[in-house]
Formats: sequence, structure tokens, C-alpha cells
Amino acid sequence: MSAELNGSRPAAAAPNTGQIRAHVTGWGRYVPSRVLTNKDLERLVDTSDEWITTRTGIRERRVAAASETTASMAAVASLRAIRTAGLDPDDIDLILLGTLTPDYWMPSTAALVKEAIGNTRAAAMDVSAACSGFVYGFATAQAWIASGLAKHVLVIGAELLTRFLDYTDRSTCILFGDGAGAVVLSASDQPGGALGIELTTEPQGAYMIWLPAGGAKSPPSAKTIARGEHYIRMEGKETYRFATKTMATTALESVRKSGLEPKDVALFIPHQANVRIIEAVAKGLNLPMDRMYTNVQKYGNTSAASVPIALAEAVNEGRLRVGDNVCIVAFGAGFTSGAVTIEWTADPARGIAGDAAVDPRDVHVRLPIDWDSVDPIPPALAELMARPSEVNPPLDDVVPGEPEPASHPVAR
Ligand SMILES: CC(C)(COP(=O)(O)OP(=O)(O)OC[C@H]1O[C@@H](n2cnc3c(N)ncnc32)[C@H](O)[C@@H]1OP(=O)(O)O)[C@@H](O)C(=O)NCCC(=O)NCCS
Repeated sequence: MSAELNGSRPAAAAPNTGQIRAHVTGWGRYVPSRVLTNKDLERLVDTSDEWITTRTGIRERRVAAASETTASMAAVASLRAIRTAGLDPDDIDLILLGTLTPDYWMPSTAALVKEAIGNTRAAAMDVSAACSGFVYGFATAQAWIASGLAKHVLVIGAELLTRFLDYTDRSTCILFGDGAGAVVLSASDQPGGALGIELTTEPQGAYMIWLPAGGAKSPPSAKTIARGEHYIRMEGKETYRFATKTMATTALESVRKSGLEPKDVALFIPHQANVRIIEAVAKGLNLPMDRMYTNVQKYGNTSAASVPIALAEAVNEGRLRVGDNVCIVAFGAGFTSGAVTIEWTADPARGIAGDAAVDPRDVHVRLPIDWDSVDPIPPALAELMARPSEVNPPLDDVVPGEPEPASHPVAR
């Protein structure tokens, strides 16, 4: 694993050159059923469907019900991924869960998921790399497998962001949504699986997206709440600039470390933050948009969950075939970014059956005894959800708007 410090070039994460390779054998996703449209948000803040759609590509997002948590969504996606892989939950040796919205500060959400899926053996831990958390987890899983430490690793991205948004701040509350995705990586002596990995961290962007209060620097108090410091804050323009510059570069590094060129990659699965950012990635890689998978129109930005949800949907929609190269790439707070290029080896048809085999109503996360949590839904959101919009815009035509040119064109 490598990280970039003080703005120096990131050290390269070693490609998988050993005999043991990490293949994706299972994938699954879960999104809450409740839809929040741009029209709904028009009733909450001074915005418009037209503004949101043109500037971001987002048409709607999902909102978790009060009974749902990051762990419960993660558990459903995980069981689906394990079913798709044809494994038993107890076959999993390691659980890595990327999230910035854990159920609690401690224990880890991964520990709760371990119990909920019925695993008795695995080591479990959360990965804190914001929207890059799933890709960082994926890279970590590859290293565990390549070193022989684990045979089957469950990697999850799960977020419940709608509980950490300021519903008076139109620049952030329109962007994010809830959901979870997961993959199983399995050891194999066959060629394929995870190839080149690139991970970077640029701490000069540390306060461009952050959640000020609740940690050791500013523990939660009536004062921090009165100041609204328990909500996500973001410098949109700076973040946009970083993302358009870094995503294409990170993806290109990963592809090149795999001994490939971008044209050899059948599909890129970029972090779904803004369709204009994804267009800039396509432009930076000199590829048409049909090589970029997008579903940001349906779910908004689900942070660490966006890549595994998009990957599962892309496979289930028939966008990947055995032998295809696929590159997952993300960026997020930190600033972090990460990409992994993968040679796809699993039968794409398995995913649909895996999804159908797991009913979310059968999946339970154990709650503490003698403790009632307060209603978790922010009051402004609860009020809005109580009065659903009658307008459901069709999702067949996303209006992405003009991409801004990548500020640092990818050229070496
Ligand atoms: C957030 C983002 C969509 C804003 O788009 P933008 O084109 O940069 O817009 P700006 O911030 O320059 O705002 C332009 C105007 O729209 C307004 N505006 C902001 N949010 C608005 C909204 N939801 N509805 C209507 N107007 C809005 C601003 O107040 C500003 O008005 P002004 O010109 O009168 O001051 C864009 O910067 C972005 O996508 N950034 C990256 C965010 C991201 O990906 N975060 C997650 C990282 S993992």
C-alpha cells in the first residue's frame, strides 16, 4: 500500500506479480426503496430540478428508512455478494468496510456486519478513506490474498449520508444519497483478477470536504450542534477541480501498471459524484462516454458505496464479459484517490440470482439491550418525506451539461 505525503508523487502499489491472484467472484448491492427527487428538494431549499440536473446529472437519490443503518444495508449487499460467489458466509476470512458514516464510532460497522451475515471466523475492520474507501479496501484485500493471509475477502462500501447533511445548505444536501455495495475477492492460481493498483492521498485538500465536529478535536456538544458542525461541509469548486484532475491520472496509472492502455479497458467504473466529473475523466483518457459507467442520475453520490453499486449494476446489465478489463476509480475527502484495474473472470449471469436469493427483511443487525436511539432522520428530511412529491421524472435522459476540460490533461 502506498500513500502520497506532502504532495510528492505517490509511491506505486505493487501489481500482483505473485502466484496467488485475487479474482472478483461475487458482487451485490442494496439501495433503500425510498426515492427523493430533485422536485422534492425544490420544496426544501432554493434550488431547481434543472440546476441540479444540469450541474450534476443527478435526478434522484435514495433515503434509508429509520429502521435502516449503514450496517443493515451493508449486510444485505454482502449476503448478495456471497451468494453470487457461491460461498457460505463462514468462508469469508476478512471483512473490510469502507464508510464515512459508520453506525457508531465504535465498534466498527464491519464487526456488526460480520454478525449480521452469520460469519464466525473473519477479521473485520472499517476503512476510512471517504469516497475512496471501497477502492482502498479492494486494494487491501488484494494484498491480503496475494500474501496468502486470506482466501476469501468481503469488501464493502456502505453509506448513510442523508443523516449527515445540512438541509438548509443547497450546495451539499442535493448531492448525496444512501446505499451499499459489496464484492467477494477470492484467491486463485489462474490468470486475471486484480492487476495494477494506484492509491494516492493529498492532505492539502484535508478541509475541502470534512465533518468538523464529533471527533477528538471537537467532541459533540450542544455548542457544536448549534453551530451545525455535525454536518458535511464542502468547497465544491476546489473538490471539482481536484476530482477532474486526479481521477483520470489515477485511472491511467492503474491501467499502465497493468501493462495496458485505456483503450484496452472495456469499462471504467468511476466514483459517481457528478456526471460532469465523469465526462472529464473520459476526456482525460481520450475515450468516449460509453466506456464510463454512470448511474449517478439514480442514486446521487453514495460515497464509498458508489463504486460497488455501480460495478454490480454494470455486471448485471451485461456490460462486462469474461476476459474484459474493467477499471474502478474513485476520489474523495482527504483528498484520496484510488484505482484498480481488473481482468473480469466471473460469469456475469450469477449476480441476478444472488440478488434475488437475499430478502432484506430477513437480514438483521443486533441492537443493544436497554438502549433506545433517538429518531435518526433529520427533522427537515422527515417532514419532506412525509409529504412525497407526485412528480416522478423519467430517468431515461440525463442532461449532463458541458464537461469542463480536465485542468491537467493526462499526458506523459
Ligand atoms: C457542487 C457543484 C455541483 C457546484 O457546481 P458549480 O457549477 O461549481 O456551482 P457553484 O458552486 O459555482 O455555484 C454557482 C451558483 O449556483 C448556486 N448554487 C449552489 N448550489 C445550488 C443549488 N443546489 N441550486 C441552485 N443554485 C445553487 C451558488 O450559490 C452559486 O450562485 P451565485 O453564482 O449566485 O453565487 C460542483 O462544484 C461539484 O460537483 N463539485 C464537486 C462536489 C463533489 O463531487 N463532492 C463529493 C466528492 S466525493
